[in-house]
Amino acid sequence: MNITMIGTGYVGLVTGTCFSEFGHHVICVDKIDEKIDKLRSGHIPIYEPGLKPLVQKNVEEGRLKFTTDLAASVPGADAVFIAVGTPASRRGDGYADLSYIYEAAGELAPYLEGYTVIVDKSTVPVGTARQVERIIKENNAQADFDVASNPEFLREGAAINDFMRPDRVVIGVSSKRAEKVLRDIYKPLYLIETPIVCTTIETAELTKYAANAFLAIKISFINEIANVCEVVDADITALAKAIGMDKRIGPKFLHPGPGYGGSCFPKDTMALMRIVQEYGENVRLVEAAVEVNAAQKARMVKKIRDMLGGSEAGKTIAFLGLTFKPETDDMRESPSISIIPALMEKGARIKAHDPKGMEEAKKYLPSGVEYVANSYEACDHADAVVLMTEWNQYRALDLEKVKKLLNEPVFIDLRNVYDPKTMKELGFRYTSVGRK
Ligand code: UDX
Repeated sequence: MNITMIGTGYVGLVTGTCFSEFGHHVICVDKIDEKIDKLRSGHIPIYEPGLKPLVQKNVEEGRLKFTTDLAASVPGADAVFIAVGTPASRRGDGYADLSYIYEAAGELAPYLEGYTVIVDKSTVPVGTARQVERIIKENNAQADFDVASNPEFLREGAAINDFMRPDRVVIGVSSKRAEKVLRDIYKPLYLIETPIVCTTIETAELTKYAANAFLAIKISFINEIANVCEVVDADITALAKAIGMDKRIGPKFLHPGPGYGGSCFPKDTMALMRIVQEYGENVRLVEAAVEVNAAQKARMVKKIRDMLGGSEAGKTIAFLGLTFKPETDDMRESPSISIIPALMEKGARIKAHDPKGMEEAKKYLPSGVEYVANSYEACDHADAVVLMTEWNQYRALDLEKVKKLLNEPVFIDLRNVYDPKTMKELGFRYTSVGRK
């Protein structure tokens, strides 16, 4: 099949590359010359494990191309995917900014030739596909096309695997013709028995928000229960394991921590709240999850302060990990963005390390943060160490060395990586989330 992917951000690049790996011919289009030039010369603008070799392979085998020429990319495509950004709106009310989507729809319309399915891949409010349909008709009355919705459920850091072995594929269509095109595109997954949920466009659009909102609620739930564990002397690890064994609850997304971040959960929960408001409805559980998440980040600041004897003024704190989760360089909405400045405002000095995120971190954190080359340099002469993001390389630290380097043996483990009993036996003043 011939596929055109508009937008070479995270979703567009991963999706386009994986489609070419399926054997389809994919053209990825972006407006930014520099980005396309870099992609053509083999430079991948994001860090995503496994993506670079997959891009290289499919470019070499002639199935994946990058261009800025939309006019030459649309004719002949069986499907044009719109995967441009939907940032939180400039109005600041949580509503997704759809201007890039509508712009893409208007621009591609005149070049449509033969039957084409226009697929919304970006996360968009219910009703967006219908607007895309209207815009295309307005710009090309003769066009033979259908719109469809095909939300993505990729996790950063695991996106290739999530794409190649998804739990399910969701397609929202309003015609059998469009359904056939999308089913043909996803045929390689059908052969490995991936369930395909084929539904209406509106249902597909809402499914994405519902899935992300549910996961955000699950994380906020376990964070609240972890906080309860702390006050009643219970252990969140055993508790999460026990409730997770109930198949109705499931074991995933029950890790307590400093609060969720990233490009999806914060944005999509806000957008869902905003969408339902327009219909006079509420999503009170989602509102609560958002509030709990903000409170969790603030609680982490207090936890660090308490471990420093009640004040962070004049203290040096080592931060291990800055990104919102491991295996990504993405800093968007990372809890570190609120926790670190809150400590700095009260006079703390921060020495930070992250395996992939330090360049990005510089754009989000105050300029006073000192970035160092490894975990041990961060701990050297620090008054406490905070394990912020559970990168693998922080899971097997030489703890004797860490203790020697620190001024005080204070270890604040916000991801519950280490065993509290062992840490105390090693002589650390240790705290984590939801465990004594
Ligand atoms: C998420 C969804 O998982 C994905 O399906 C969707 O398409 C985009 O949003 P992503 O944001 O990449 O993916 O990361 P994810 O692995 O879901 O983690 C999100 C945040 O939740 C991270 O900050 C992570 O640390 C946190 N988290 C996750 C927890 O605090 N506890 C958990 O048990 C799981």
